[in-house]
Amino acid sequence: MAWFDAIADLRIQIFRGFPYLYDGTRAYEQKYLKHYLNKHSLIVGAFDGKKLVGAATCGILSEHDQSFSETLSDAGFNPETMLYCGESVLLPEYRGQGIGHAFFDYREAHGRELGLQFSCFAAVNRPHNHPLKPENYQPLDEFWYKRDYVPLEGVEADFSWKDVDQDKETDKTMQIWLKML
Ligand SMILES: CC(C)(COP(=O)(O)OP(=O)(O)OC[C@H]1O[C@@H](n2cnc3c(N)ncnc32)[C@H](O)[C@@H]1OP(=O)(O)O)[C@@H](O)C(=O)NCCC(=O)NCCS
Repeated sequence: MAWFDAIADLRIQIFRGFPYLYDGTRAYEQKYLKHYLNKHSLIVGAFDGKKLVGAATCGILSEHDQSFSETLSDAGFNPETMLYCGESVLLPEYRGQGIGHAFFDYREAHGRELGLQFSCFAAVNRPHNHPLKPENYQPLDEFWYKRDYVPLEGVEADFSWKDVDQDKETDKTMQIWLKML
């Protein structure tokens, strides 16, 4: 599918950066993006003419990755009532124009239309002194707080991928952020 590859390429390009440091491959992407091949998922695209320059994904948590779903279930939530926002990726030259907000607006509206109670996402934890952290790195936490998301203390999921400076996949812990819809 053409859109599959276009999103995969955006993810591979943008998530090479800190804090993701994802050394992506089309093979991994084929497996990962299958989470969105169901009737409740939504992918929002940002286009410049016909070119896809950004994308954001979401779906019902219980239909997404099992690790995220189990983490929220163990924390006392019902994953069937939760929207999981997978990723927002936008080419750098298109940032700062409100597209990141629009990505959340469309996804949260979709969650409400599905009758879901919560929206959540996961952000990778990296040590503050990570050797690949750029000096001018600015976390997105303020943006997420502004969107009324809060990190759920002690609620973290495990997820693995290959980092750009590693030989094989390594486990990461992902902080879960949540808001009421
Ligand atoms: C996340 C992302 C899609 C946001 O895109 P964007 O279109 O630039 O976002 P917006 O223009 O809507 O800005 C959102 C707000 O966050 C702020 N913001 C955006 N990027 C920021 C950054 N790197 N650091 C701090 N604040 C930032 C903006 O100032 C804006 O604040 P405002 O509401 O006061 O105006 C884009 O930065 C991106 O692709 N980043 C790399 C991938 C990533 O980390 N994705 C998130 C996790 S999956």
